[in-house]
Amino acid sequence: MSELSGTLQYFKGLEGVAVTESSISYVDGVRGKLLYRGFDVEDLVEHSTFEEVAYLLWYGHLPSEGELCELREKLMKFRKLPEEYLKILKTFPLDVHPMDFLRASVSLLGLFSTPDECGENTRMDCAIRLTAQLPMLVTIFHRRRMGKELNLDVSEKLGHAANFLYMLRGKPPESMEETIMDKALILHAEQEMNASTFAAVVTASTLSDMYSAVTSAIGTLKGPIHGGANEKVVEMLEEIGDPEEAEGYVERCLAEGRRIMGFGHRIYKTYDPRARILKKWAETLVNIRGGRAKRHFEIAMKLEKAVTERLGNKGIYPNVDFYSGIVYECLGIPKDLFTTIFAVARVVGWTAHVIEYNETNRIFRPRAIYKGPMNLNYKIEKSKR
Ligand SMILES: CC(C)(COP(=O)(O)OP(=O)(O)OC[C@H]1O[C@@H](n2cnc3c(N)ncnc32)[C@H](O)[C@@H]1OP(=O)(O)O)[C@@H](O)C(=O)NCCC(=O)NCCS
Repeated sequence: MSELSGTLQYFKGLEGVAVTESSISYVDGVRGKLLYRGFDVEDLVEHSTFEEVAYLLWYGHLPSEGELCELREKLMKFRKLPEEYLKILKTFPLDVHPMDFLRASVSLLGLFSTPDECGENTRMDCAIRLTAQLPMLVTIFHRRRMGKELNLDVSEKLGHAANFLYMLRGKPPESMEETIMDKALILHAEQEMNASTFAAVVTASTLSDMYSAVTSAIGTLKGPIHGGANEKVVEMLEEIGDPEEAEGYVERCLAEGRRIMGFGHRIYKTYDPRARILKKWAETLVNIRGGRAKRHFEIAMKLEKAVTERLGNKGIYPNVDFYSGIVYECLGIPKDLFTTIFAVARVVGWTAHVIEYNETNRIFRPRAIYKGPMNLNYKIEKSKR
């Protein structure tokens, strides 16, 4: 039997297809559970820190005090960007989407990385290096476009999340803000074989380098039905404008066959555990901070009710992107930076998967089922034109 007569199986969007074996994370889409290396993410959010979780995801076990200290030192050291690199970065346009800037600047960083820093034997250091560098790049972009001075003198006393907020906003965060950002980074750090992780792993499967893999992943995360959804959610809440309009908005979307941003997931067919946690923080924060975010939260609650009433039977519930934007709004972060925060966290998952996949590497080379014409004759076809 030839391939064309149907030996190939086609799974649209690779639904239900496993592309590798992994011990990094587990998603239970029926019970709404997410485990990192066997630990419930809710447990980690409650008791751990981003640095500790990053170590866990990369190395497969919780760090000792010494191991954590070493990781923190590396994160601090690797934040320093080469002077020549910074000079070129200054020539990049600033009237672009931050995710485009991030993708291009990570790709450029690859030009400055030596095999010693990011070769076959130093891939773990390269993962740590990229994790240290991404927040710097987001900060550089944002501070420059605001016409503000770069605050690259990060504090050794502050953790990764606090330093990110410090650099971005130019003043040390309050302790509650630091805690929320740290926990948000934990929640976004890993999620099995999602589209951007797959993109990173596909690139790495050709034995390409880590900067190329992360560049692919950033470009993939940017899309509005993947990581870009958090920004789109807040745009949608702005468009709705009034809690009383939420139900009508849902009706209109359904009638026009439009997606409601921040809802639905390929794996979770129940409430996304990350959305449950983010909703709680959003509620706490909007009650403290008030303002636009409070209005957005009120609209979001109405929207959630209307969507789950209409689509809950199809397994459509809020996902991680539904409440995260409201949380970031409360931290004073502009909405076009939301997806970059996702990348700042997810770089850990991307690199952990790249390292794991390369251990038993096989190049990805799926097939497409050919539906086009066969046996055309060039001269005959050309004569018809
Ligand atoms: C996440 C997402 C891409 C998953 O897509 P998927 O697994 O391919 O799901 P499908 O597109 O096959 O959708 C399955 C069904 O649910 C419906 N659906 C899925 N998400 C929906 C949404 N956000 N709003 C309305 N309907 C939705 C589809 O219309 C489809 O209905 P049908 O079976 O009657 O045709 C999709 O849910 C989506 O686009 N969500 C909005 C964007 C978003 O929030 N992305 C962030 C994900 S973390």
